[in-house]
Formats: sequence, C-alpha cells, structure tokens
Amino acid sequence: MLKNMEKFPNDFVWGTSTSSYQIEGAHLADGKGPSIWDTFTQIPGKVANGETGNTAADHYHKFKEDVALMAQMGLKNYHLSIAWSRVQPLGRGDANPKGIQFYSDLIDELIKNGITPWINLYHWDIPTALQLETDGFLNPDIADYFADYAELCFKNFGDRIKNWMTFNEPWVFSILCYGHGVLAPGRVSNTEPYIVGHNILRSHGKAVDVYRRNYQKEQNGKIGIINNCDWREPLSDSVEDKAAAQRSLEFFLGWFADPIYLGDYPDIMKNNVGDRLPKFTEEDKKLIKGSSDFFGINHYSTALAENAEVNKKYEVNVYDNGCLFEDERVVLHADPTWKKTEMGWNIVPEGLNNLLHWIDKRYDHPEIYITENGVATTDEIIEGEINDQTRIDFLKGYFSAAHQAIEEGVNLKGYFVWSFMDNFEWALGYEKRFGLHHIDFETGKRTPKKSAGWFKKVIASNSI
Ligand code: GAL
Repeated sequence: MLKNMEKFPNDFVWGTSTSSYQIEGAHLADGKGPSIWDTFTQIPGKVANGETGNTAADHYHKFKEDVALMAQMGLKNYHLSIAWSRVQPLGRGDANPKGIQFYSDLIDELIKNGITPWINLYHWDIPTALQLETDGFLNPDIADYFADYAELCFKNFGDRIKNWMTFNEPWVFSILCYGHGVLAPGRVSNTEPYIVGHNILRSHGKAVDVYRRNYQKEQNGKIGIINNCDWREPLSDSVEDKAAAQRSLEFFLGWFADPIYLGDYPDIMKNNVGDRLPKFTEEDKKLIKGSSDFFGINHYSTALAENAEVNKKYEVNVYDNGCLFEDERVVLHADPTWKKTEMGWNIVPEGLNNLLHWIDKRYDHPEIYITENGVATTDEIIEGEINDQTRIDFLKGYFSAAHQAIEEGVNLKGYFVWSFMDNFEWALGYEKRFGLHHIDFETGKRTPKKSAGWFKKVIASNSI
C-alpha cells in the first residue's frame, strides 16, 4: 500500500490543459484574424510534414462534444487559452463579436458541466497584423496593446472567470521563438530574447494592474502568470557544477519569477548578459513586483548541468545555436540511466519535487499550481482501445513527487495534466501525442485513452 494512499489535500485542484492554436482549428472562421502561427505554418520547412493548425482537433466546432468528454471523466478544472486574433483580429482596435461569442459559449458550457475554466490570455499566438505593423513583443508599446486586449477579456468573460493567467511560458516565447527561431516568428538572435522577455513582463504587469484596479474586487478572481522550468542537477559534486545548476535555474525561472517576486532580474543574468539585458524603470518595477496572486509552473524534465568555460562550443544544444546557453555558461547532459519520453525528454519525477522546493524557498512559500505536466507516447488504437500505460506510469511518478512536496510543506494547490487531448505540437506537427484523449486528425473522432480512465479515478478519490 502506498504511504497514506497518497491522498491529496481536500481542496486540491486537478485539471487538464490545452491551448488555442493547438486544438481549435477554424483558423480564419467567423472573423478571426491570422496569428503568427497561421503565418509561420505556411513557410515550407518550419513544421514537420508541412502540417498546420488550420483544422487541428477542430475544437472550435466540437467544443460541446469535448466538454461532454471532460464531464464524463469527472474533470473539475480546465485550463484553456484565448486566441487573441479571434477576439481582436488585428491585435488592436475592433473586437470580433463572433470570437467573443465562441469563448463565452465555451465558458458557459464548462460551467454548466461543473467545470471551472482557468484562462490563459497568451499562448504564443500574437495577431499577425500586430506583429507586422508594430514588431510585436520587440516594441515596448506591446504592453499597452496587451493590456487593452486583456481588458477586453476581463470585461467580456470576467463575470464567470476566477482564475486568469496572462502569459504561458515567457521563456519559450523568448528563447525558442526569438533565440533559436524554431517556433513562430522564427527569429534567431542573441539580443532579442531579452527584449521580448522584458516586454512580456511589462505587458503582464500592465494587464494585472488593469485587472486589479478595475475588475478584481467586483469579479473576485485571481491573476497570475505561467512560467516553465526544467530541473537542473549538478553533473558532479564540484563547486563549479553546483554553481552551474543554480545559474541555469536562475536563467530559466529566475529570469521571469525574480522580477515578479523579488523586484528585479537575478544578478547573474545582469553580469553575464550585460547591456543586452534591458533595465526596468521604477514604474515598471512597481507594476511587476507582486503582480502574481499564485505561482503557475509548467514542468516536463530534468537535466544535468556542467559548468562551461566562456567561449566553449555548445555542441550539445539541439538547436545548434548557443544563445542562452552561452550566456548562462552551462552545458546540459542526461544521466544514461534515465528513461526518455517520445520527445527525448528525461523522465525524472524527483526533479519536480526539487523544483517545487526551490520555488518554495526562493519565492517565500507561494501558492503553486502545476499548470502543465505530461508526456508524449506512441498511442495506437488497437481494437478500439488505447493502452497508454506509459503515460499512466509517467503521471503516477510525477503525481507522487508532487504529493511528497506537499507532505514536506510546499504550498502546492493544484496540478493540470498536459493535455486533455492530442493536438498540434508546434514545429513537430501531429506526430507527438500528449493527450488523455486520442484524436483522429483525419476524421476528428475522439477516443478516451486508458489514462483518461485512470485520471478519472485519481480525481474521484483525490489520491494516486
Ligand atoms: C509546453 C507548451 C505546450 C505544449 C507542451 C508539450 O511547453 O506550453 O503548448 O506544447 O509544452 O510540448
């Protein structure tokens, strides 16, 4: 028998996550404007097999069926994102009533089925018009455009939404989209990631300020941001490798969480990045410090950190571009005994436990929600069933690590599995399946996997 049956606290929040571009499809339906993902996927060579999210899981048309499946598995919380260009096609100016209607209907349908919606305002899909006309997140004015868009959402949906998140994974949007260029808009630079990251923090601060001043009291909700971080274990016991692991975490999570919880970027970033790291004005600092009511964290993997000399060739970087890794002066490795997911990511549940403790200590015991964690597996339908035992084993391990952290005093309040359903996995297209529900992308047919049934029991018993 597992310790205490690994029972979670009574108010623990179990949920699943998705994002707009990855599931909705209907990419230009009912007045929606294109986003940078609609544009990026048109460029040959950017996405595996030339795939796009034009149709994806067609959630736009099938949302009632999807909510019914959620209800069937006893899901109580669902974390989705709003496509900015669906509700405001050009990223500024006129709203699109049909886009607003879609999310409004979706929210109503969720609530009718006893499911609490958690809404993220930005999952990497800035409207193409705003990107082309203003340079998007490279332009400091983005903070005003984003705050206006956020306000549009607070105004239209805030009567029913108690949990807001401004951004999903600023690290990914800065580094993979502007550093390595593998995700939209596909820019490769050693400077732009820091400008983009800076403007995301400023945009977040402004949006939160609007919410707190004009909506929070009346609507009675919480607002935060979602960061992501893998865990870093030192490669050896040497002082240098230990410092490298800590440095890597500060460049990963500290970059975005330090300004929010501690008031500025980590010193190590200021030292190593120098003039390429923008500075906050006093006004920025006031808006950003203390701007998250809870700590949202996405976590997928762990790596070993080795100290690297300046100017070392960063050949281990899968994207073949040093970028952040040069600045942090860390080379990453995997322990050969670790199992890997279909994404090639190391499966190390105790890394989650370590990360939760790191957050707890550095940011003074915040309320934490794991807003994404999950695994890509090879899921085949055999006689109508998908036996994704690998996913169940993965989640069991990570849930157990989270449970242990709670027992050890970490203020972990919830856990959202990525993802509710198979979806468009960005540059990798449809090959990587993360869902608890299988999607046949030809026919749109939904099939619950074995893991959906298993997760249903976890939710019902509030234990693993
Ligand atoms: C996260 C991202 C999701 C999903 C997941 C699996 O970084 O927020 O959109 O793609 O990774 O790769």
